[in-house]
Amino acid sequence: MSVNAETIEPGTGRVRLTFAPDGGEVRVPAGTTVFDGASWNGIAIDSTCGGHGTCKKCKVRITDGDVPVDTLDPRAFSPDELRGGWRLACRAIATHDLAVEVPPLQTRPKAALVGVGRHVILRPSVQKRYLELKEPSLEDQASDMERVVHAVEDFELRVELGAARGIGRTLRSSDFKVTAVICDDVLIDVEPGDTTERRHAIAFDLGTTTVVATLLDLATGQPLAVRSMLNRQQPFGADVISRVSATMMDPDALEMLQQRAHETMNGLAGEVCEEAGLSPAEVYEIVVCGNVTMMQLALGIDPEPLGMSPFIITARRLPPAVASDFGVRVHPRAPAAVFPALGAYVGGDIVAGMLATGLTRDRRVRLFIDVGTNSEIALGSSERVVATAAPAGPAFEAAQIRCGMRAAEGAIEGVAISGEEMTLEVIGDAAPVGMCGSGLVDAVAQLVSAGLLDHSGRFIPDEDAAELHPQLSTRLVKVGEERVFVLAWRGDDPANAIYLSQRDVRELQFAKASIATGWRILIKELGLDEDEITQVLLAGSFGSYLSPASAVRIGLVPKLALPRIISAGNVAGEGAKMAALSLRERAAADAILDEVEYVELSGRADFNDMFMDELAFPG
Ligand code: FES
Repeated sequence: MSVNAETIEPGTGRVRLTFAPDGGEVRVPAGTTVFDGASWNGIAIDSTCGGHGTCKKCKVRITDGDVPVDTLDPRAFSPDELRGGWRLACRAIATHDLAVEVPPLQTRPKAALVGVGRHVILRPSVQKRYLELKEPSLEDQASDMERVVHAVEDFELRVELGAARGIGRTLRSSDFKVTAVICDDVLIDVEPGDTTERRHAIAFDLGTTTVVATLLDLATGQPLAVRSMLNRQQPFGADVISRVSATMMDPDALEMLQQRAHETMNGLAGEVCEEAGLSPAEVYEIVVCGNVTMMQLALGIDPEPLGMSPFIITARRLPPAVASDFGVRVHPRAPAAVFPALGAYVGGDIVAGMLATGLTRDRRVRLFIDVGTNSEIALGSSERVVATAAPAGPAFEAAQIRCGMRAAEGAIEGVAISGEEMTLEVIGDAAPVGMCGSGLVDAVAQLVSAGLLDHSGRFIPDEDAAELHPQLSTRLVKVGEERVFVLAWRGDDPANAIYLSQRDVRELQFAKASIATGWRILIKELGLDEDEITQVLLAGSFGSYLSPASAVRIGLVPKLALPRIISAGNVAGEGAKMAALSLRERAAADAILDEVEYVELSGRADFNDMFMDELAFPG
């Protein structure tokens, strides 16, 4: 067995993009454009067309690896430049590892490219106005606060008490030359001198497993630092249900869970500020998206009603909060903008994902699936969008999988079978120590294609396997009473090997059947045919790493041409960034609550029959 990423067929594996001079590195599914790969990694590439191939500004140089010349490239580059590796990033498709040089930005964008190719015009909630005020006198008795408020002509300002406290001293220590710091229409501070260029916010994606923080420069729309960290609530259980259960069993657990969320978020805030060389006091707003349980735990709201029927959420739109409600120590009066939720199992993270993908704004019919323990599914276009949540169980997190592990170094994340040869893709190019969710999906898809797993999900009998695949069949062995397929031997004893067991295949079948039933019901709800779907967007930390070919092979997604199945990356985090950069986008997120209809799966008469049909792998 060889471990070699190069041998994975295009479209089924992942490739590494390394960006200079930033030194950023990102792993993306083969077939992703350099432009998308860079934007997922927070690396800005010049563009005014948002990746549509019309502005010819997204020039990059491929310094290692090969990208064929696209039909649009000769319009942007001379033959010499083309020979030197220059390409338009939005046309450069990565089918193997590439090193990419990104020239400095030519224009400081007034708009930023965020989300899935979304162009966001910068209009953040956080605004600053530099003021040179007239000093008071016996004749001019206006109060300090009036002086500031009246000078800011384009806002009807309200003033925070905290901002009023320091105003007198600040005005006098800076010769009445000050900067008003405004969030929405509230004056939260008055700073000495001109600080208008220094405006920042942090966008948080508060995930059950991982929390991501992006520090944004609100003057340019560019990310200054991105950090992620495992959610420190992990010791209370891997999924939302176990964390809700913890609060039901122990009266102190809610406070402890809240504390852990705060430590995680504040730790990240400190890290991104340090990396960018900023004082946390220069961060004037945080934006948070997360599933409903994560949001309620972080805010100290009892999550018990979420854990039992009829699954009621405390509020779809939570009352106004400030950063310190999340334990985040930035500017002391920084507000916290929180994404609204559709319901108990379609939370603010999914609303953020819909915002980032423009699902409710696009004329094309698209299917959005956030693959996870609880998988959220939305289908539709600007005409109508329906959404649901499918309990997929822990197969994708690999928790219930015999040799399952998180997507970390040593995890098999890709499997390819060609004839009698099997190739593994292992994170970190290390010796395999387990298999993560995408490896599981690949392994099953490849074994179904090779005929070693039949359509009902059973390993075929040994004699048939020996005839069909004389070499691969030697991997089909028993561990105890269970038949398994060995992916990587570790010594002679199969029990020590990394393998796929019959029970693992069953777990995956249940998960994929649950998701497939979800989207089939949504298709029915909209009265569509499967082939009317123009694009499938796979999202979430797991969905983004899933190979489109394998997802189709096992029937997890509709059978569409592979280029129509897109790994959308961390769309929740992208949505949070969009809301930080633009009040217009924030309003669009809020509107999603009225635009999207929730479809409840449990209790539907057609659910069981459809679910049973979906258990099999497509022929
Ligand atoms: S982003 Fe405009 S041409 Fe590539």
